[in-house]
Amino acid sequence: QTKRVYINGECPEPELISEGANWLRAGELVAFPTETVYGLGANALDAAACAKIFAAKGRPQDNPLIVHICSREMADRLTDGWTAEAELCVHHFWPGPLTLVLRKKPIIPDVVTAGLPNIALRMPSHPVALRLIEESGLPIAAPSANLSGKPSPTNGSHVWRDLKGKIPLILDAGVCSVGLESTVLDLSGDIPTILRPGGITREQLEEVLGKVEVDVPKENQAPKAPGMKYRHYSPQGEMILLVGSSDRVVHRMGLEIQRGHARLKKVGILCTLESAPLLHNLLPDLLFVLGSKERPHEIAANLFEGLRICDEQGMDLILTEGMEEETGLGAAIMNRLQKAAGQRIEFL
Ligand code: TXA
Ligand code: MG
Repeated sequence: QTKRVYINGECPEPELISEGANWLRAGELVAFPTETVYGLGANALDAAACAKIFAAKGRPQDNPLIVHICSREMADRLTDGWTAEAELCVHHFWPGPLTLVLRKKPIIPDVVTAGLPNIALRMPSHPVALRLIEESGLPIAAPSANLSGKPSPTNGSHVWRDLKGKIPLILDAGVCSVGLESTVLDLSGDIPTILRPGGITREQLEEVLGKVEVDVPKENQAPKAPGMKYRHYSPQGEMILLVGSSDRVVHRMGLEIQRGHARLKKVGILCTLESAPLLHNLLPDLLFVLGSKERPHEIAANLFEGLRICDEQGMDLILTEGMEEETGLGAAIMNRLQKAAGQRIEFL
């Protein structure tokens, strides 16, 4: 039996926060909103509670969890890897969508870090997340609150559909503002290295840290962030990622729609605001506008919703317009889209 409660995202009701904190202290799971995506939380110091996360999601055991904290003191109890770079990141980007990989202290159970010597720490900025950590007094281990293999949940309904019946409580505060997961930055080595592109961009990090490397594994490579090796999400339908000017993308999509319809396929489109008017006339079975090319944060915020809708509406073929600029948020958006599309990407 899962209880779903609606909570004020700006000014969370104290009695609802207490309810969540009580479940966490009792070793149970609570789904809660963050500014990036919803998290599925458990007491990070309780190995049995954390094991329930893997069971509820169907998550592989070798994929470690991010631990969410609400203060520097709480972080100090979990790591002694503070370097000058870590201090700078904390100062500039916490609370916010940046996860830091640092040396762990022994009190962290192995199930949280999948046996690795490092821990991934994040201070979220969402008031519900922060208040829940404060009220429980616990560091909260939380992966994204989706079933393994589905897109991360960016609203309470996504969590409900994936996890109802599996956890006692969902705190639903509506839509997440960022809509893509946090950037995972490894600070355990000599040079700060992005293991997963996300809500804080490489450019933002380089402004503060100087040189930042990117080590995001391609298929078949051994990744440093274990989670990056899983094909996180692949839609039921066949997906083709098309990158280029609106003119070229629209032309190519037009051909694919005709070809798909000739084979009695349902064809869904995920596109930018700029391409939408022309695509509309080509009569796809579904047209979802991700946002304007001029405002990548809109595209980031709508991406997972768009992917979920295509599956829910039974699209056989999903044509997705990619980002021409792989700088800024474009890097994270293209990372998620490339994973969803597998190898099917065309630069026009
Ligand atoms: O925005 C987010 O990061 C969301 C919200 C809920 O905070 N969480 C999230 O968690 O996306 P998850 O489990 O879906 O992704 C965690 C990523 C995985 O790629 C994992 O391999 C990596 O972080 N990671 C966790 N601990 C690590 C560690 N000790 N060393 C290297 N990578 C780690
Ligand atoms: Mg995830």
